[in-house]
Amino acid sequence: MDSNSLRRAFIDFFAGREHTVRPSASLIPVDPTLLLTNAGMVPFKPYFLGEEPAPYPRAVSVQKCVRTIDIDIIGTTDRHMSFFEMCGNFSFGDYFKEAAIAYAHEFVTEVLGLPEDGLWYTVYETDDEAADIWLNQEGIDPERLQRGGKDNFWQMGVPGPCGPASEIFFDRGAEHGAEGGPIGGDEDRYVEIWNLVFMQNIQDEPYHVVGDLPAKSIDTGMGLERTAMILQEAASVFHTDAVLPVLEAGAAYSGVSYGEDPAVDVSLRILADHGRTVTMLIGDGVMPSNAGRGYVLRRVLRRAVRHAWQLGGEGLIMPRLVEAAVGVLSDGYPALEDKQQAILDVVEREEARFRQTLESGHSLLSSALGEVPGETLPGDVAFKLHDTFGFPIDLTKEIAAEAGVEVDEVGFEQEMDRQRKRAKASFTGGAEAELGQMYLSILDAIGPTEFIGYEHEEGGGRLLAIVRAGETSDRAEEGQSVELFLDRTPFYAEAGGQVGDTGTIETPTGIVAVADTKHALQGFQGHRGKVVSGFVQVGQEASLQIDSPRRERIRKSHTGTHIVHWALREVIGDHAHQAGSLVEAGRLRFDFNHFSGLDADELAQIELLTNQNIIANPHVHTHVTSIDEAKRAGALAFFGDKYGESVRVVDIGGFSKELCGGTHTPSAGQVGPIVLTSESSIGSNVRRIEALTGSDAYLHLAKLRATLDEAGSVLRTTPFDVPERLAALVDRNKALEAELEALADQRRAASAGDLIEQAVTVGDHRFLVAAASELRPDELRLLALGIRDRLGSGVVVVGSAHAGKGALVGAVTKDLVDRGVSAADIIVPAAKELGGGGSRDPELAQAGGPNGANLEQALDIARERAGRALAEV
Ligand code: SER
Repeated sequence: MDSNSLRRAFIDFFAGREHTVRPSASLIPVDPTLLLTNAGMVPFKPYFLGEEPAPYPRAVSVQKCVRTIDIDIIGTTDRHMSFFEMCGNFSFGDYFKEAAIAYAHEFVTEVLGLPEDGLWYTVYETDDEAADIWLNQEGIDPERLQRGGKDNFWQMGVPGPCGPASEIFFDRGAEHGAEGGPIGGDEDRYVEIWNLVFMQNIQDEPYHVVGDLPAKSIDTGMGLERTAMILQEAASVFHTDAVLPVLEAGAAYSGVSYGEDPAVDVSLRILADHGRTVTMLIGDGVMPSNAGRGYVLRRVLRRAVRHAWQLGGEGLIMPRLVEAAVGVLSDGYPALEDKQQAILDVVEREEARFRQTLESGHSLLSSALGEVPGETLPGDVAFKLHDTFGFPIDLTKEIAAEAGVEVDEVGFEQEMDRQRKRAKASFTGGAEAELGQMYLSILDAIGPTEFIGYEHEEGGGRLLAIVRAGETSDRAEEGQSVELFLDRTPFYAEAGGQVGDTGTIETPTGIVAVADTKHALQGFQGHRGKVVSGFVQVGQEASLQIDSPRRERIRKSHTGTHIVHWALREVIGDHAHQAGSLVEAGRLRFDFNHFSGLDADELAQIELLTNQNIIANPHVHTHVTSIDEAKRAGALAFFGDKYGESVRVVDIGGFSKELCGGTHTPSAGQVGPIVLTSESSIGSNVRRIEALTGSDAYLHLAKLRATLDEAGSVLRTTPFDVPERLAALVDRNKALEAELEALADQRRAASAGDLIEQAVTVGDHRFLVAAASELRPDELRLLALGIRDRLGSGVVVVGSAHAGKGALVGAVTKDLVDRGVSAADIIVPAAKELGGGGSRDPELAQAGGPNGANLEQALDIARERAGRALAEV
């Protein structure tokens, strides 16, 4: 039976016995006490503990599991793996020992067809009940039932449910080791295939039972690879159909064969196992790093690379292992195929990076191992290997152990500590550095702030630190500006575009008005404000109250922003990625990538869609999940936030899904109206929309309406007829202006005609200098030109005093300009009388000044100069 059929046979067997079929949960557990999902029961833990009612009384699953606790022995046995699949049936307060044993026995003998004389059973040393149930099954020889100690008591390794266990083994025969049964015999001979746990206790730490579970339950785990090994009569789990292709990929890479050299075989088994583990971890969203599950991944990956490097081979090993692993596992986990490229990208980068330093790191380590005093590798060498050469400490320990050398782990930790301090010292550059350093030491001392502001707008906390004038302080007095740090807070600190909360923090002795809240460091809220009465002191209990009405307006803007973002993409396309946002009380600003301005139609459509979807009032649902899950569900994550392993998804009616840590309204309807107020460019291909939200949007509309009403009443019509009436008025106004202009023209022509009578003749030329009372400068100019055109050959200067100021315009006919007469030379000296100056154009010059009262004197000068100029021609 191949592994895929085995998986299906198990599910079918229990599905046929009223078990609800559950898919494998992610390797990244929801349970915060666990690093990785390490057993089939992990997703069901709350049901065993009674923390949540079980939605079904029985379940069956095949669960992906990773266990790295015994990673050192992987490769050295036939049956240990760091990634394996566990087939399990579960009862939550439903059936107990009797049925669990009967099901397991029926499955191994009838479905799998294993011969009874190869099967062995163990029970916990005091569990007579289980022993009796086993002996009541058909064909069981009491000789093959043994009692065990700790191995027959199962627990997760962390606080949780636990209980006595009964295990099923298969005897692979004398060639696999010494006889004696599971307890006493060789473990590679008597292979454990199935563990039935009779869940009935709770422990607070490994093997320390503190009480009983609310109900007796069943948790079983049958190892898929081990069972396949028995069924396929394979030499080891590595020879089963689910693993062998991966092992062969490793052998092909190195050009070695399995079974010729025990040391090479260990390496090949490690490649096969680790290749699968790396594939599945990355597939579930784990990324290599130096901490937590990222470290587990990095360590496993680099351990494999080191073995491949020792075997020798061209190019990278990990991509080949990943491809082979996807090949064998994608039947059970179809999503792997879609993720294959992403997994390959990660392993290629990680392996290439490690290979750059592997060789030199290895030779450093080898020579250090050659000269170690007292068989201990100094901590600073291990640190250097970690820091400079990317050798995870566990890898260094393992290589050292192969040479019989221990690593000074305390020394290593001290070096790590020094490095952390150095890193902190260089936390930020420039003027911020000191402040950053100070925040870091406060954080070190008091720990991060617990944010309770999704559920609460007020709450109690303890005042743990005060910063005043750039320094920490124990106390702050009335009038002083402060930044406060507490153990918990409902104040939202500015993030993801949403502004920080304001409000008050009150202790028994004083009140601080909080004007802003910021992340002094990520997850470390600084409340900035002023002591407005009394004093506050570190250690005091405080009651915190945010400005709730303001938060409400901010909330509306934040949910509104998501809806506008969605509508925007609906109207102009998915390329309109968010490029920044500001979420404030009553208004929002949203920046996005787009190549051109939005026209009125597009804006109207965005606004319409936005408001329609608000009015439809869908639920706003927030939940925390893994980034992988979130992306799979289509959540949008574009903008600069750094996301941790778990992320918060804000889902509005299923149409808008964004990763967001902000505060939102429970349903879209509470956002109220949204009014787009502007659209503009803020850089190449980046546009900005601004909008009002909630009451602010309504008030804006109300004001517009009032204005329109007023316009209507001025125009004596309804608001709806205002545009038409206005257009008519504008038209009429234009007609009137044209009429007026025509009249003015006539008047000027008439006065030009009058004035020209006064022209003085000098030889063949004529000149006229005259006052044209009260004309504006532009009219004066038209008048001067009108006169000049009738002079034949000559000079005209007209002046006016208008609104106190004096103006002069001089014009000279072309023939005289050619002969050196300049209008500017005539009027600029004259304009001095007006207290000003003028332009230098010889044909048409304008001048003016503040002293309009001196117009006559100015004209006298102009007259004198004009006469002289003509006389000299
Ligand atoms: N939790 C038990 C185990 O992991 C049985 O599923 O062995």
